[in-house]
Amino acid sequence: MDLGFRGEVADFYHRFRRGYPPAVIDSLVEMFALTTDDVVVDLGCGTGQLTLPIAERVRSVVAVDPEPDMLLRARRAASEHEVTNVSWMVGSDTDIPTLGTLIGDGRLGAVTIGQALHWMRHEELFRAVVPFARSGGGVAVVTNGTPLWLQDTAWSRALCGYLEDWLGSKPTRTCGTDDASQRRYRDSLIAAGYDTAVVSVDYSDELSAEQIVGGVYSALPVARIPPAEQRPRFAERLGEVLQPHQPFVEQIQVTILIGRIP
Ligand SMILES: C[S@@+](CC[C@H](N)C(=O)[O-])C[C@H]1O[C@@H](n2cnc3c(N)ncnc32)[C@H](O)[C@@H]1O
Repeated sequence: MDLGFRGEVADFYHRFRRGYPPAVIDSLVEMFALTTDDVVVDLGCGTGQLTLPIAERVRSVVAVDPEPDMLLRARRAASEHEVTNVSWMVGSDTDIPTLGTLIGDGRLGAVTIGQALHWMRHEELFRAVVPFARSGGGVAVVTNGTPLWLQDTAWSRALCGYLEDWLGSKPTRTCGTDDASQRRYRDSLIAAGYDTAVVSVDYSDELSAEQIVGGVYSALPVARIPPAEQRPRFAERLGEVLQPHQPFVEQIQVTILIGRIP
């Protein structure tokens, strides 16, 4: 399956997607009692939004993603930030059993999944992690706010309408952030034998029109991004649609669904 996180999308992703505030990393460290003895797997690591700050708090991170371009961009970011304790691996959720065998039974501090579980077979994944996680370790499913076009603000509704005209259909993907998906994930964690908890970190931030355009491009499969010569027109027309709704304030809720091995 072509996920489309390739080429320019990797660059847009890195440039325009939010990272995670320090309170999110603190919560992960606290909930799993992570220390500098721990190994963490960051699954669906993208360009390293969770990987790099977690790496500063543990012994090492194995960062896994099926898209080589995302990994390349992440590796470059790690080198820019002088982060040297991450192994970057092309792979996916189905590689967890092999990876777990390498790390060893009961040795894994946590598997973190930032804004990526909706691409995975979560029930199998949760079960697969159990033998490798140490007591008190487990799985963290992290969301990073509501997609830009689904927020409860006038500018977001205007963006949604613009994208509907342009794509030919209403953008509706929630990317696992909706309540029903979160309930499903939590039920699956419980069924696999984890104790669960939910932590959320809320903050607000103002976006520029350029950040909204970049955020949209970062969320499209590479084949759907307007060709370079059409981008100025795309941005100009979107700017006109958004302009009456300034300032573009976003309320971000990061949710951390924790599944802990008793
Ligand atoms: C929306 S990005 C999230 C990146 C980053 N973790 C973050 O929090 O911003 C989703 C990532 O999941 C990766 N992905 C898609 N399917 C996957 C799978 N089956 N296993 C692991 N990663 C996957 C994609 O290649 C992409 O880099």
